[in-house]
Amino acid sequence: MTTLTATALQAGYGPSTILTDLDLAVPPGAITAIVGANACGKSTLLRCMARLLRPSGGQVVLDGRSLRKIPTRELARSLGLLPQSPIAPDGITVADLVSHGRHPHQGMLTRWSHADDMAVAAALEATQTTELAERDVDELSGGQRQRVWIAMALAQETDVLLLDEPTTFLDIAHQVEVLDLLVDLNRKRGTTIVMVLHDLNLAARYADHLVAILRGKVHAAGTAHSVLTEKMVEQVFGVRCRVITDPTSGQPMMLPLGRHCTTAQSSDGGTLS
Ligand SMILES: Nc1ncnc2c1ncn2[C@@H]1O[C@H](COP(=O)(O)OP(=O)(O)O)[C@@H](O)[C@H]1O
Ligand SMILES: [Mg+2]
Repeated sequence: MTTLTATALQAGYGPSTILTDLDLAVPPGAITAIVGANACGKSTLLRCMARLLRPSGGQVVLDGRSLRKIPTRELARSLGLLPQSPIAPDGITVADLVSHGRHPHQGMLTRWSHADDMAVAAALEATQTTELAERDVDELSGGQRQRVWIAMALAQETDVLLLDEPTTFLDIAHQVEVLDLLVDLNRKRGTTIVMVLHDLNLAARYADHLVAILRGKVHAAGTAHSVLTEKMVEQVFGVRCRVITDPTSGQPMMLPLGRHCTTAQSSDGGTLS
């Protein structure tokens, strides 16, 4: 199973350092969710792990090899990234975009194969975008487009899949659909999944491993029970909340307390004020 780790990672843009000494071990064959406030460095971390951004210090290691030493095509066959705001070429159809996911599997001489057709069809089917195949990507709704990008990432059939806010733009039904799909992929193929999510409750529900980032460092990592605490939410997001048990899954679930919520029982029995 593919292992992916970041050690003493430092990265940024020009003079500003965003990731400062970040250590992360992605559990192989599991689903990891990364959470954290806006601009804390989640996308920067994913970019480093996909080698789209060169770290200024530390390193990312995939299966015992530094990412820097892995040939591009080989890397693209083992690790895929769905960026936060992907940009499609003008006028491209859904089928063509999803087919791009197969490029790392084609050699200099090997042509498009039946296996490629099957992978594209399966990816369209899994994301319920088969009926959109001949449409232009430009003319889709935000949610449809997001599912098409996910289809492209699935067609790449990598052992590790990094997804930056894959549920953005999706209504609740499609959010759950995409997360269920990622669980299927994880269970059936053993794909290691790392996703940035904003919804802490969905993150706690779906992730085996939860990672909270604060100002470019891992603030907490572990099971949802150990990471999703009232203290963590206050420290990482500056929001008071209550954490209760999700009655459907037994996982922790947070309820934010706005300024207008004056009193509430804390889960440790005390009164929040
Ligand atoms: N291409 C870029 N050039 C300069 N600064 C950037 C760039 N991308 C992100 N940043 C800055 O880096 C910080 C972290 O960004 P990002 O990793 O995208 O945060 P997150 O994904 O956690 O919201 C932010 O302050 C953001 O403005
Ligand atoms: Mg981001």
